[in-house]
Amino acid sequence: MGSKIEAVGLTKYFGDFTAVDHIDLAVREGEIRALIGENGAGKTTLMNMLYGLFRPDEGEIRIDGAPVKLSSPLDAIAHGIGMVHQHFKLVPSLTVYENLMLGTEIERELKLGGRTVRLPIIDTRRERQAVQQIVDRFDFMLDIDRPVRDLSVGERQRLEILKMLYRNVDVLILDEPTAVLTPQEVDMLIENLHALKREGKTVLLITHKLAEVKSCADTISVIRAGKHVVTVTNDDDATTEMLAEKMVGRKVADIDRTRRFANDRKVLYRVDSLCAKDRNGRQVLSDVSLHVRAGEIVGVAGVEGNGQSELIMVITGLMKHTKGSITVDGADVTGVWPHELKAHKFGIIPEDRYIRGLCPEMKVSQNLIAGFEGQERFSRHGFLKRKAMEENRKEKVEKYQVRLSSKDPYISELSGGNAQKIIIARELGQDPKVMLACQPTRGLDLGSTEFVQNELLRIRDEGKAVLLVSSDLSEVLALSDRIVVMYRGRITGHFEAGHVTAEELGLYMVGAKRMEGLAGEEGNDG
Ligand SMILES: Nc1ncnc2c1ncn2[C@@H]1O[C@H](COP(=O)(O)OP(=O)(O)OP(=O)(O)O)[C@@H](O)[C@H]1O
Ligand SMILES: [Mg+2]
Repeated sequence: MGSKIEAVGLTKYFGDFTAVDHIDLAVREGEIRALIGENGAGKTTLMNMLYGLFRPDEGEIRIDGAPVKLSSPLDAIAHGIGMVHQHFKLVPSLTVYENLMLGTEIERELKLGGRTVRLPIIDTRRERQAVQQIVDRFDFMLDIDRPVRDLSVGERQRLEILKMLYRNVDVLILDEPTAVLTPQEVDMLIENLHALKREGKTVLLITHKLAEVKSCADTISVIRAGKHVVTVTNDDDATTEMLAEKMVGRKVADIDRTRRFANDRKVLYRVDSLCAKDRNGRQVLSDVSLHVRAGEIVGVAGVEGNGQSELIMVITGLMKHTKGSITVDGADVTGVWPHELKAHKFGIIPEDRYIRGLCPEMKVSQNLIAGFEGQERFSRHGFLKRKAMEENRKEKVEKYQVRLSSKDPYISELSGGNAQKIIIARELGQDPKVMLACQPTRGLDLGSTEFVQNELLRIRDEGKAVLLVSSDLSEVLALSDRIVVMYRGRITGHFEAGHVTAEELGLYMVGAKRMEGLAGEEGNDG
């Protein structure tokens, strides 16, 4: 059987830098192909060419064997190729159905006074039926009349996929779709992908999670430094160890989990009876208390939407609290903004790197000192010390293995994972006392994940306090000395590492289990 979609010698340059280097790739109809590789390997750039966002500098794209020129995403969709990016493009105030209809001009033939005319009309009843049919056919479980603002991240993603299916694409490209999903949502997405496959759709899936690759891909392509390394069938020979080695070019070690915290250490961070309401007056945090000692990592686990984001916002001064207090090493920091928190040696790896962590229109060297410009090291009489900034950039880029296409590019030119590394380099480099690490390895490749996790363990071993908020349960389990679970804005369970399984945590995360009388207990034992 011939190929559904094919890249032949596909190449993309950014200036002198070759992001995609003569890649040949052929995917059959009804195949699920996983695309894996390190941060900056060229995966997104390659897919952006298949989706008409970037024009290839060399090579060609073939669909069903015939060469095509794609000059825009609309062009790609017309050729049956759709893509869902990590950052969704939905209108929150409109419903699922309305979002789906946006941009589709449906022309109907109408008989008007004996003449046939074509008019852009949406026959609501018929279209709604058609939409509902797709939702049912692929088992998408979406209420088409709900406003998008009320949807979970997983539901929003299903809607983005639905948009593509409604436009009748045969090939669906997903760029790191699971990075933002909870474990339950990941399972659901994988089921959805299998349903697509049964309908004969072709799926191209970029991900850093090898477990997901193993559970859903038919074939796996490894990309390294812009080149196609190998494509293998997903069978028993394709072990995660082997794939990791192909991606990184060396063996990847497991992280060392041996050291456990000492109980006699000082409490460096304390959150006491924190309460908060959202704009609509809904209670989003109820008496949340927790503490982190020097030399300890406390993990916050929970299904997204159970107050973790609000907790992060309140403890970084970005959202008002109605009750409670927060201290860093005894100093009151309740309601204190990120900028001032830095003075208290409180480091922040924020949840959304582009909204709170980085300035895309500024260069890497500037972002690496953002928030610390005032330090003597970087400025004098209000003037930035160029040389110190340059040296800082060089040092951080090397230490954190940030892959850049030129010496000091704008953040907007970085791959997703490399942008995350810039934040981590900046925050860890400031020698914080307390580190708030929110989804620290989201979007990072295997090697970088290993590196960042080891860094968090390293600063813990140096006696720092780390508060880890992550929807990646395996990460919480691997790094934390203690774990608290959040459910509906409350802490419903707390555990010592090694005394709880993922399954048990899962029961607390969905509210099937909870510990009694927790509110006071967690806060008062330090
Ligand atoms: N618009 C751009 N201008 C300059 N360089 C770019 C641009 N887009 C990407 N690059 C560079 O091309 C390389 C490949 O980037 P790409 O986004 O394709 O990587 P990726 O494999 O998707 O990585 P990640 O896993 O981190 O998302 C990177 O080194 C990146 O810095
Ligand atoms: Mg990418």
